[in-house]
Amino acid sequence: MSLEKKRPFTVRIVENRKLSPSTYLIILERPNDFPDPYPGQFISVRVNDQTVPLLRRPFGIMDINSETMTILVKAVGPGSTILASKAAGEQVEMAGPLGGMPFSRPGGKDVVFVGGGTGLGPIIFCARSWKREATVGKMHLFIGAQTKEELLEGLYEKDFDQVYTATIDGSSGHKGNIVELLEEEIEKGGIPAAILYSCGPRPMIRALIDRVGPKFENHYTSLESVMACSLGACRGCTVPVIEDGEKTLRSVCMEGTVFRAEDIDWEEWE
Ligand SMILES: Cc1cc2nc3c(=O)[nH]c(=O)nc-3n(C[C@H](O)[C@H](O)[C@H](O)COP(=O)(O)OP(=O)(O)OC[C@H]3O[C@@H](n4cnc5c(N)ncnc54)[C@H](O)[C@@H]3O)c2cc1C
Ligand code: FES
Repeated sequence: MSLEKKRPFTVRIVENRKLSPSTYLIILERPNDFPDPYPGQFISVRVNDQTVPLLRRPFGIMDINSETMTILVKAVGPGSTILASKAAGEQVEMAGPLGGMPFSRPGGKDVVFVGGGTGLGPIIFCARSWKREATVGKMHLFIGAQTKEELLEGLYEKDFDQVYTATIDGSSGHKGNIVELLEEEIEKGGIPAAILYSCGPRPMIRALIDRVGPKFENHYTSLESVMACSLGACRGCTVPVIEDGEKTLRSVCMEGTVFRAEDIDWEEWE
């Protein structure tokens, strides 16, 4: 991917819809020359032109068409809160599509997606892309959140063959975490031996590896890591991996965001 493709674009916010107490669906205009992204790629957004916050913030692409692109934004700190407060018509600067390693295509196989929090965005993008390409078998979504409101029901059901939900407070679906629910469903025999794709908080991905990893043919995961340059230069976003028995570091922004889950060196990743 050339640097030309990563240059910043100034884009208008087309719509900002509050979906839950802390999550917003933000539709941005797509610049004419914005390249087609792959599932797993992201954009980085400069939320204002002040010195605080100085750095752009990364957000996964949830959807894109010829005119707009959509991201899910959870307000967790200063940058995401400023972005979440923007109204339609305001402009932001963004760069992308970023990320060197996309989710690998399932090639007609069944797929189990597991999403936590805003990890849902990249998963929706995968499901929609693959359905359009007709390169996928059945798609099962396991989605977990703290509360019913944060499950964002209504946003994604039509994209998947079957949806399973869990909330920590028990306000909707299984009471508990989503990995427990997946484990239970596997034990009942209702989940196919398929490819597992995950995106969400680090403890969720670790639990997937420990509790259900061997049940799947492959497990690909899109990682989040605190980013500064998003261009592979600062090495601030690296994760330790073991490849062919050798320990090394890989940047999430350029060599990810997608990794084979079993390659991640969890003992070294603090
Ligand atoms: C590749 C990638 C894709 C992402 N996609 C999305 C997305 O689609 N939607 C979305 O809402 N967020 C996404 N994030 C996370 C998002 O970038 C951060 O939440 C945001 O940068 C926080 O900025 P802030 O200034 O609001 O908060 P900060 O001041 O930077 O952080 C506030 C709090 O949030 C925690 N935090 C910050 N970043 C993360 C993170 N990546 N994971 C877990 N905790 C974090 C901090 O530890 C701190 O406690 C993504 C991150 C990466 C690396
Ligand atoms: S954020 Fe600088 S190398 Fe990834």
